[in-house]
Amino acid sequence: MCSRNIKISVALFLILVPIFTALPHSHNLSKRSNFFDLECKGIFNKTMFFRLDRICEDCYQLFRETSIHRLCKDKCFTNETFGDCLKVLLIPEEEVTQLKYFLKVVNGSPVPFDFSQLI
Ligand SMILES: *[C@@H]1O[C@H](CO)[C@@H](O)[C@H](O)[C@H]1NC(C)=O
Ligand SMILES: *[C@@H]1O[C@H](CO)[C@@H](O)[C@H](O)[C@H]1NC(C)=O
Ligand SMILES: *[C@@H]1O[C@H](CO)[C@@H](O)[C@H](O)[C@H]1NC(C)=O
Repeated sequence: MCSRNIKISVALFLILVPIFTALPHSHNLSKRSNFFDLECKGIFNKTMFFRLDRICEDCYQLFRETSIHRLCKDKCFTNETFGDCLKVLLIPEEEVTQLKYFLKVVNGSPVPFDFSQLI
């Protein structure tokens, strides 16, 4: 009786442990693969990445245009469409300055288009 309970516990342990250890990993991997899918070459900072991603989501909500959604995130947010989204979303100047820094970190280099035109 006792050894049977142990067997059940061991079996449960063997089933559950891989599930629990797999969950957080796949969660992080999906976020990371998203980062790499966008061809970001800098540092993955969740706060920064999701703030930038949010700009594109908000922009998409405004226009409901899938091409805007795609272009905004194109090449790790470096297409001019990202800048256009900042403009239409009326992002304040201080925040644009901060987002410019975020882009630099996430891309590993300064963005190719000129943000100063937006302000
Ligand atoms: C995975 O993500 C979880 C929650 O998002 C976080 O607590 C954990 O530190 C991350 N693990 C790694 C290895 O980045
Ligand atoms: C990510 O960026 C935020 C905002 O700039 C910063 O506060 C935070 O310390 C950064 N996290 C890491 C792990 O670099
Ligand atoms: C942005 O996307 C458009 C359309 O694909 C392309 O013509 C343009 O060259 C892109 N700009 C940059 C800076 O990649």
